[in-house]
Amino acid sequence: MSIQTILVRTDPEYDVTIGPGLLKECGPRLREVVPLCHMAVITDSTVAPLYLEIVKDSLLEAGYKVSTYVFPAGEGSKNFNTLSSILEFLAEEQLTRVDCVAALGGGVTGDMAGLAAALYLRGVKYVQLPTTLLAAVDSSVGGKTAIDLSAGKNLAGAFMQPSAVLCDTDCLKTLPPHVRADGAAEAIKTGILCSEKLFALFEADVLSTNPELIISRCVAYKAGVVERDEKEQGERKLLNLGHTVGHAIEKCSGFTVTHGHAVAAGLVIMTRAAENLGWLTEEAKEALEAERIESAIESLGLPASTEYPPEALAQAALSDKKRAGDSITIVAPSKIGRCELKKIPVTELQSIIEAGWALE
Ligand code: NAD
Ligand code: GLY
Repeated sequence: MSIQTILVRTDPEYDVTIGPGLLKECGPRLREVVPLCHMAVITDSTVAPLYLEIVKDSLLEAGYKVSTYVFPAGEGSKNFNTLSSILEFLAEEQLTRVDCVAALGGGVTGDMAGLAAALYLRGVKYVQLPTTLLAAVDSSVGGKTAIDLSAGKNLAGAFMQPSAVLCDTDCLKTLPPHVRADGAAEAIKTGILCSEKLFALFEADVLSTNPELIISRCVAYKAGVVERDEKEQGERKLLNLGHTVGHAIEKCSGFTVTHGHAVAAGLVIMTRAAENLGWLTEEAKEALEAERIESAIESLGLPASTEYPPEALAQAALSDKKRAGDSITIVAPSKIGRCELKKIPVTELQSIIEAGWALE
């Protein structure tokens, strides 16, 4: 299977390399972009026994000095305590400004290790080694880093682009179905946002037969958006499709509903709301595209609804970062492959969620 490379033209620019066998070659591949230095590999307790030795061996063989830090797996670790422990670890290991952090794992690891890199010594380089589908299609690219606060998801963070992303697609083979489905939610979100052709690949189950194709399409689309709007002043807000409701579901559940599952329900609720509020195009309505979106999401093993009522979701969403004073920007589908940003008063959010909410 071939290796693909997608250039993200931010400042600095970097390559996202996608294909099998990349972790065992990470040392020589990273040497092309990160001069020999002290590399601190941050990973979680599930990924460590699977992939840490492979990464460490390759880095050592290439000539890097390597230190490793393992934190307990799961969203529950994406907080200030773990971030603080990672920062103390970097200091104890005496990393300097010329050294580098490597995030080996899913979106939780990437977000937190990236934020540690942004904060430590006011910023050191970092690289992303995504091991989940979600990290491959979304979180490893674009430079958003964050931790959760008790008030909500990703409320403390920084924009900091990685120096490289090596996406080893062999890692997908060890993903439990639930975690794989989480990634499928962010991937199908991209189809709803940008391309009917990409969306149709999910209906044809290409995610099972050729995940590399889906990953490279999603990364190419995201790279373009991030290049045009790195700091989310406009177009990048579209990538939050399904996330206002998704983050609210995560928060209402005490983070027991995982990110992708929450986003999936958010995608369906926003689609149904768009249909009921007359935001879908006539063609999309006639082609029953809302039903198409809902059934594609269900066929990926993802939920199309949530038990949390609109009032609770709207309350939870009010601490969302997307709120600006008394208004909030939501993303509404117009048709498969096209969505629009709508700035609405926060007082309208509950009725919009109500328009799309149905318990199954
Ligand atoms: P995760 O990092 O918690 O990984 C999910 C689980 O899978 C963990 O238990 C992990 O240990 C395990 N795992 C990872 N790789 C594995 C492998 N190859 N085989 C077996 N198990 C493996 O969660 P996630 O779904 O990858 O990411 C979710 C997080 O990403 C959320 O915190 C979300 O907010 C964030 N996110 C960030 C961005 C961004 O742009 N920065 C975008 C989307 C989501
Ligand atoms: N996942 C949304 C973004 O990167 O902007």
